[in-house]
Amino acid sequence: MQNLLVTGGCGYIGSHTALLLLEKGYTVYIIDSNCNSNPFVINKLKKIIMKKDKQLAKNLIFFKGDLRKKKDIERIFEYSKHNNKIIEAVVHLAGFKSVNESMKYPLMYWDSNLIGTINLLKVMQKYLCYNLIFSSSATIYSCLENKLIDENFPIKPINPYGNTKRCIETLLEDIYKSEKAKWKIINLRYFNPIGAHHSGDIGEDPNGIPNNLFPLILQVASSKLRELKIFGNNWDTRDGTCIRDYIHILDLANAHIAAFEYLSKTKSQIINFNIGTGKGTSVLELINTFKNVNKIKLPYSFTSRREGDQKYIVADNSRALSTLNWKPLKSLEDMCRDGWKWQLKNPNGYIDN
Ligand code: UD1
Repeated sequence: MQNLLVTGGCGYIGSHTALLLLEKGYTVYIIDSNCNSNPFVINKLKKIIMKKDKQLAKNLIFFKGDLRKKKDIERIFEYSKHNNKIIEAVVHLAGFKSVNESMKYPLMYWDSNLIGTINLLKVMQKYLCYNLIFSSSATIYSCLENKLIDENFPIKPINPYGNTKRCIETLLEDIYKSEKAKWKIINLRYFNPIGAHHSGDIGEDPNGIPNNLFPLILQVASSKLRELKIFGNNWDTRDGTCIRDYIHILDLANAHIAAFEYLSKTKSQIINFNIGTGKGTSVLELINTFKNVNKIKLPYSFTSRREGDQKYIVADNSRALSTLNWKPLKSLEDMCRDGWKWQLKNPNGYIDN
């Protein structure tokens, strides 16, 4: 397989994944509505890839389109067919991803995430494309213990965003069962991706004030926000703050390449993989690493716990390590250094460029 479609390819995870696929010589089609991303990412990707090999930049083909419109998806599959570079696999990342927003606008989340996926699957079937890597999330797990989470942990999301992810996994299971000989489906359950490409040219560009910890750290470090509010210092953890499994965005992107290459050479199946490092880091540890690596101040104070937060969410990634030709290579220091480089080079995200 040589030609892939990346839905949501202008987003944070999509852009890094598309870049690595291009570097490997694959033809990458991107479909993105840009409702939550910037089309300028495409130029950035071309710029980075051209430094490596001018020819490779020609393998990036962007279509602005919305998965909620089946015609938009058909257009890109039709184009790929006419150009004799038919899409053979899809990395499906498009969708809304904010927990808070999903609680305010559940219909918007169900519409975009679920209807978008249903349309995509219909078009894939029409064009006989049965290879799919889906961006799922650790948010679907229910976990209250201090235990590494493996893929068999109970699934019990607690917000509409998580519900859409779980529901899509269920849908994919049904699709797989209906044509077991054809479908190859991988659900990648992401833990907490942070950082940026080491060039500092692509990174996370949230709309407005972010909710997640790392983009907030970047905004405090660059004095856009006065201080970071840490949600609770009385958790039952080593320093009283919550523990997460932060993974460098390039390690996470690389997991998609490994998943795709695994799909290419295995039999039809549906399989879930946790994509994390297996190492837990507390909020304070992340802040201190960021401060030390980048030699910068990061004012913070403690506030009450955030509703729905959990104290410890860390992956048991052994299935991914043993099955995929993949392992996370980058350290917490790399995540902090590369994320800060992106922020310094692009203080206002992609808008300035
Ligand atoms: C959150 C979502 C999760 C989603 C993920 C996407 C919740 C409850 N969970 O996960 O469903 O998949 O984002 O990346 O919203 N923190 C602070 N102060 C802040 C922000 C965060 O102390 O201003 C702490 C949180 O308590 C948490 C850690 O930082 O312990 C990481 O938070 P965040 O980046 O929002 O990720 P998750 O909570 O893991």
